Amino acid sequence: MLKDPYVVLKDPYVRREINMRRILVTGALGQIGRDLTARLRGIYGHDAVLASDIRGDHGEASSGPFRLVDVADGDALCEAAKDHGADTIIHLAALLSATAESKPMLAWQLNIGGLLNALEAARVLGCRLFTPSSIAAFGAGTPKKGTPQDTLQRPSTMYGISKVSGELLCDYYFHKYGVDTRGLRFPGLISHAAPPGGGTTDYAVDMYVSAVKSGQYRSYLGPGTFLDMMYMPDAVESVIRLMEADATRLKHRNAFNVTAMSVDPEAIASSIRRRIPDFRLEYDIDPVRQAIADGWPDALDASAAREEWGFRAKYDLDGMTDDMLSNLSGKPLYGGNEAILQ
Ligand code: SER
Repeated sequence: MLKDPYVVLKDPYVRREINMRRILVTGALGQIGRDLTARLRGIYGHDAVLASDIRGDHGEASSGPFRLVDVADGDALCEAAKDHGADTIIHLAALLSATAESKPMLAWQLNIGGLLNALEAARVLGCRLFTPSSIAAFGAGTPKKGTPQDTLQRPSTMYGISKVSGELLCDYYFHKYGVDTRGLRFPGLISHAAPPGGGTTDYAVDMYVSAVKSGQYRSYLGPGTFLDMMYMPDAVESVIRLMEADATRLKHRNAFNVTAMSVDPEAIASSIRRRIPDFRLEYDIDPVRQAIADGWPDALDASAAREEWGFRAKYDLDGMTDDMLSNLSGKPLYGGNEAILQ
């Protein structure tokens, strides 16, 4: 039952009817999944959103239906979508960049095998599908500043290769089978609700957590490493806006550049020092993650997303910092799970 359809309908980029009514989320316990599932349930109703993950400890994410699904098992994924009566699959299950680089075979199997299974389920059941791409879909040769929507994409990491392949596969399913596939090239995402795991942009989240916990942080990316970032509430809203957007306005589909800021470690530290003046930032560079970051753009051009479906980001760096620090202060960090601290 749709709780507040007009939340998404009051928008010139959205048609006067809802696209998503019954949603299956894979990887629902991951970094994006926790926030997105909660927001989807707030809009579309708790029972309308089936959360799934390979892990069973759904804990606080259990505010609605949950099912164990390994996306490598295509039949199980299709069955979950069918049983739920899904019209939309939000496919999030994937390895992030640093983990993918250390386990490239698994990254290919999970990121591409899992996506193919989700696309097949969408084709067979007539669902629309969202899956995230990433700034990692670019590489050497891509313009680093004002990175265009349509440009050279020759990534050199397994994660990036899986993201470009994913974009192409989603386009293929749209053109060949008419599956309504849509995606976003996410920058580094920052959330106080869920720890990231195995990404290259995770340092930004770690810095906020460490600032609150100990007043200091040692960054594994060096000074001057500019990367796009976005606060999780903006990321979540952008998924919903894109999925509810009028298809006839979309010239692109897989996947749109989106970003809210271009920052390096020092910029985040300066923003934190407005609230924690003694905050200390030091550097202990990890060559693997530094090399990954050096291959990514500094600042994306998100004008196609703005023009075609009204993308906008509410939080700038200081707005995000204030919200992160106030949410992280005075509560157990990530429910006592401090594994992300370096
Ligand atoms: N945040 C991701 C990572 O660092 C990029 O998509 O892997």
